[in-house]
Amino acid sequence: MPKFSDVGGEVRSATAVSLLLNANNRLTVVHTADSILNSNINYILLYDVPPHNNVIGCVGVCVQGEITVLKHLSVAPQYRRQGYGMCLITAAINSTKTKVIRAFVRSDNTASLCLFEAAGFMAVGWKQITPKYRLIAVEKQI
Ligand SMILES: CC(C)(COP(=O)(O)OP(=O)(O)OC[C@H]1O[C@@H](n2cnc3c(N)ncnc32)[C@H](O)[C@@H]1OP(=O)(O)O)[C@@H](O)C(=O)NCCC(=O)NCCS
Repeated sequence: MPKFSDVGGEVRSATAVSLLLNANNRLTVVHTADSILNSNINYILLYDVPPHNNVIGCVGVCVQGEITVLKHLSVAPQYRRQGYGMCLITAAINSTKTKVIRAFVRSDNTASLCLFEAAGFMAVGWKQITPKYRLIAVEKQI
């Protein structure tokens, strides 16, 4: 069962994550609250201040031995370019103890590649997924 570091309650949080991912992240699977709750990923969510309380964005944190993999980074369109993506990456890094932080980004995702570069990540490898794009592994050593 994943943990959510927010005050929304597990089901509300899982629903919020699934809606964000389905709308923004071009994933090959459609997520539901159940699929999020049954995953081994811990999510950090950012909420707007009351009375809005909108979900601004989320990031998944998955510790795999000596490496932390950041997954499902997502910021709702109306909140982009205001520093929230960077804020989520920083929160994710601060939430884990591993010395290596990794993420996988599509080569056609300029916003995400620029964001991870700005956060101090470097490309360390890639895999061709379709003729149109590669998955690029980016890493930061703490
Ligand atoms: C990628 C994403 C999370 C960025 O979130 P964000 O909150 O807009 O990012 P930030 O405001 O923190 O951006 C910080 C820096 O990243 C870079 N950056 C972010 N978006 C960018 C864009 N569209 N083009 C170029 N650089 C960008 C810039 O250097 C930016 O600093 P600046 O605004 O001072 O120039 C957001 O666009 C998103 O949710 N996209 C859809 C889902 C997705 O692709 N997730 C990533 C999966 S790997």
